[in-house]
Amino acid sequence: MKLKSARTVKSLSSVLLDKSIPLSTVEIYWVFSGISTDKWENMTIISNEMLGKEYPKTFGHYHNIHATETTHLVQGEGIYQVQEKFYDSSGKWVKDKVKAVYFVQAMPGDEIVTTPNFAHSWSNLGSTPLLTFDDWREGHTDHDYEIIKKLGGMAYYVCIKKGALDLVPNPNYKELPPPKIISAKNFMEIVKGL
Ligand SMILES: [Fe+2]
Repeated sequence: MKLKSARTVKSLSSVLLDKSIPLSTVEIYWVFSGISTDKWENMTIISNEMLGKEYPKTFGHYHNIHATETTHLVQGEGIYQVQEKFYDSSGKWVKDKVKAVYFVQAMPGDEIVTTPNFAHSWSNLGSTPLLTFDDWREGHTDHDYEIIKKLGGMAYYVCIKKGALDLVPNPNYKELPPPKIISAKNFMEIVKGL
């Protein structure tokens, strides 16, 4: 097992809602690779360090390769934002629109499968680190992150307001559909139906 990457507040700056928070070198999440020789390849640990009113999160990315990814919540209180690509009537991918946005309220033990049709990002809503495993062995290119970076983040910013979850729309997306908060089981039924 080795540390593949670490993201600091500074390296998340392009996807943060609050542009006034100090861009420190405090590390927000770590990805370890080669964690096992069977199902799981990567382990991600997200700290509980708030990013202003936004919960600590992973950068968010699409996949450039046609394969599925399974993520598994090991421990912590997490929510997984998945946004579905929008295609226009000619079949062209419109990058500043999304067809649907789901917030999967995962419980420890849940597994969530995504296809290349979805970008995804974890947020840590709890007071302890969030720990996930995934089976993505294809690596990443800058392209996977580029679209999310250009749009200043995923479709919604996952924030806290008066002690409650507050999903703040990202104004860089056009005609944003309302978010759907669902269980891992219900999300899996949607993926299977696509
Ligand atoms: Fe991924």
